[in-house]
Amino acid sequence: MEKFVIGGGHRLCGSTRIKGGKNAVLPILAAAILTDEKVTIHDCPDISDIRNMLKILNSLGARTTFENSVITVSGGISVGEIPTEAAKEIRSSVFLLGPILARIKKAKVAYPGGCDIGLRPIDIHLKGFRELGIEVTEQNGYIICDASGIRCADIQSDKVSVGATENLMMAAVFTKGSTFIRNAAKEPEIEDLASFLVKMGAKIKGAGSDVIEIRGVDCLHGCDYTPIPDRIVAGTLLAATAICGGDVLLENVVYEHIFSLVSKLSKSSCLIKPVCDSIYISFKSRVRAFDIVTHPYPAFPTDMQSQFMAVAATAAGTSIITETVFETRFKQAGQLIKMGADITLRGDTAIVRGVGRLSGAEVTACELRGGAALVLAGLGAEGVTTVDGIRHIDRGYESFEKTLTQLQADITRICL
Ligand code: UD1
Repeated sequence: MEKFVIGGGHRLCGSTRIKGGKNAVLPILAAAILTDEKVTIHDCPDISDIRNMLKILNSLGARTTFENSVITVSGGISVGEIPTEAAKEIRSSVFLLGPILARIKKAKVAYPGGCDIGLRPIDIHLKGFRELGIEVTEQNGYIICDASGIRCADIQSDKVSVGATENLMMAAVFTKGSTFIRNAAKEPEIEDLASFLVKMGAKIKGAGSDVIEIRGVDCLHGCDYTPIPDRIVAGTLLAATAICGGDVLLENVVYEHIFSLVSKLSKSSCLIKPVCDSIYISFKSRVRAFDIVTHPYPAFPTDMQSQFMAVAATAAGTSIITETVFETRFKQAGQLIKMGADITLRGDTAIVRGVGRLSGAEVTACELRGGAALVLAGLGAEGVTTVDGIRHIDRGYESFEKTLTQLQADITRICL
């Protein structure tokens, strides 16, 4: 059991470099089993979701190494069953189904776990598989798939799903003819996965738009790849600076990827400026209130809703935050209220009346991004905040306390 102990009230200053994105690296690792040859992925963050994904790849028969931010995967896979404990640990286990089926035609997985932020069904994945001619059986909490009869298809998704788009793209990579995914997700991580697959020899067009075309090839080969930087880690540090004030340089950021966040701060007196592949951030005074409605990319990301709720709690004025992607993603609100925030929840909407400074308290992280939001709130609060349940935060932020200490924050990890 570990906790963060945070001394609030320090302005942030200095620079830090953002590594490859969790949500970019995880599907790329799944795709790496599409070849027996060696795949080398650079700039990977050392976070528990990635460590768990590597354990699953090993259990499928692949060989993996992870040193100095570089992951290698080689040897392909011989097993199609994902261990139940591991599948319950990370939701990304579900998008291993696509590459397993593409490679060895049979797969079995328990219903996936991940953050407790809503219902998180996988019907869009399974409907797409069935349209590809894959037999899908759901039995006692397991999904069993047989892709002996896989064929190309024209798939229309009723709802935009990042994971389903990635899963179907990987499943169809060896299928003769052209497969289309319509109403595809347009997140930068989708484009990045497609770039990786193309580097391995796949034929994919349209990733990043509504319609993706996958033309089947016979085999894929190994490659070296550097995933896109983590836009959510960058956004979290932007939110931290908005709360604490200060001057920060974030290196390795694609400005366009975080523009929906930057635009929410346009009424505040601050400077957020791209400089080559970095962004310079300067906040001198209290942020002004803003309204947010979460939607798929390029709109405001659900993965930044909690951190911006922490910003809104300290802002001048009242902010309205509407969460449309996940059903129960306001779990941080109760903990922020413990710290003095003024938040009223009405269904999918939170009304946040900014109170200026929050007060230090003992709070508990219940999920990844909500947990990060509590750390940010603690950094700006008066007095000491302790954040429990930080294993959730470790899923997506590499040594979060070290990154923040580098920016002059007062935060320590303590083991109980
Ligand atoms: C991915 C991200 C996650 C992010 C989310 C939305 C990874 C590893 N995770 O999750 O950080 O919060 O995108 O940007 O990349 N849905 C269905 N049926 C399905 C699949 C999804 O109804 O079969 C619904 C979900 O419940 C949710 C919405 O669609 O309401 C979006 O989910 P989806 O885009 O699939 O999220 P993930 O891929 O799980």
